Amino acid sequence: MAFLSDTLARVKPSPTIAVTTKAAELKAAGRDIIGLGAGEPDFDTPENIRIAAKAAIDAGKTRYTPVDGIPELKKAICAKFLRENGLTYQPNQITVGTGGKQILYNALMATCNPGDEVIIPAPYWVSYPDMVLLAGGTPVPVVAGIETQFKLTAAQLEAAITPKTKWFIFNSPSNPTGAGYTESELRALTDVLLRHPHVWIMSDDMYEHLVFDDFKFVTPAQVEPRLYDRTLTCNGTSKAYAMTGWRIGYAGGPAHLIKAMGTIQSQSTSNPCSVSQYAALEALNGTQDYLAPHRALFQRRRDLVVKMLNEAKGVTCPKPEGAFYVYPDISGCIGKTSAGGAKITDDEAFASALLEETGVAVVFGAAFGVSPNFRVSYATSEAVLEDACRRIQDFCAGLK
Ligand SMILES: Cc1ncc(COP(=O)(O)O)c(C=O)c1O
Repeated sequence: MAFLSDTLARVKPSPTIAVTTKAAELKAAGRDIIGLGAGEPDFDTPENIRIAAKAAIDAGKTRYTPVDGIPELKKAICAKFLRENGLTYQPNQITVGTGGKQILYNALMATCNPGDEVIIPAPYWVSYPDMVLLAGGTPVPVVAGIETQFKLTAAQLEAAITPKTKWFIFNSPSNPTGAGYTESELRALTDVLLRHPHVWIMSDDMYEHLVFDDFKFVTPAQVEPRLYDRTLTCNGTSKAYAMTGWRIGYAGGPAHLIKAMGTIQSQSTSNPCSVSQYAALEALNGTQDYLAPHRALFQRRRDLVVKMLNEAKGVTCPKPEGAFYVYPDISGCIGKTSAGGAKITDDEAFASALLEETGVAVVFGAAFGVSPNFRVSYATSEAVLEDACRRIQDFCAGLK
């Protein structure tokens, strides 16, 4: 009898976490390493949120809570959806989990049966296909390449839908490309979805607050209210409020789905950390004043990185609308040999030689389903980004 389960054999560990770990190991061994792999803001959780968490501890808010969130936080989430997205949810339509990740996972576990298909635009966040596989469903990646700025077209969505399609996962702004759908781009997709009433929409709005220039964030149930009854609108405090370690994610959706997700959570983790829930309550109800300066900072970094990467030989870097990632194409580097003698056969070989020879850690594109590319997370200082991009430029210049 095999000790490890068949379920485990279906999935692989997160490659983004693997890159971060490898970079940390090299750093610990004394190498000069710049990690551009991690998907988290580089600043501390704002002070008002930290104060609220400390007060919660001192007030004894350290016990079990209702499985899918304290009533005050659900109320704050309802207010957030109304205020920022024009969506009306009642508290029984809200669930709170241990990070955005658990929310998506609960939804898939609660709904996927063998044979159910889940459409995932690629490049995708690394966890989507594996979570679908863990839940027993079939991921259906659909490549939206650089020619459409990494955005899925209506025709592509239409062609991917079958009678077995259960979910369409939508992520804007996107990890790993930063691509954000405008209202008219999203409407083209919601028009398709209206014609297929058996397809549910899982909208992962994690990067809602990280958008640049005049880009206006929109979410499917807001753009097309007729999809409200089959849309799960997912979000969390991790990225906007620099709260990745606190582990709070949430969603609004039809009450029967929310209840089913709570059942999955009740038999796995139970409630998300009580103290974190009070911190999230302050994040949503407290001042939002720091969001704009954070956005401005990220926009400057994006502009710097896009400019410098486009100056690297063989690299083409589109300018994304949001998040804190860029996803340059490196077709012009493939088939060459690095100054250190590494054959650049694919984007994994590129990332590995780049780390070895220059100390810059990026995640190779194959991990996100579209190659040859790599992902840069620019959630670090401009000085560090400049140094990293110069090293990438030198590395590319040395390819023969
Ligand atoms: C697109 C996307 N969705 C969800 C998550 C999960 O966020 P959390 O840390 O709250 O679980 C991430 C984190 O990297 C993400 O990039």
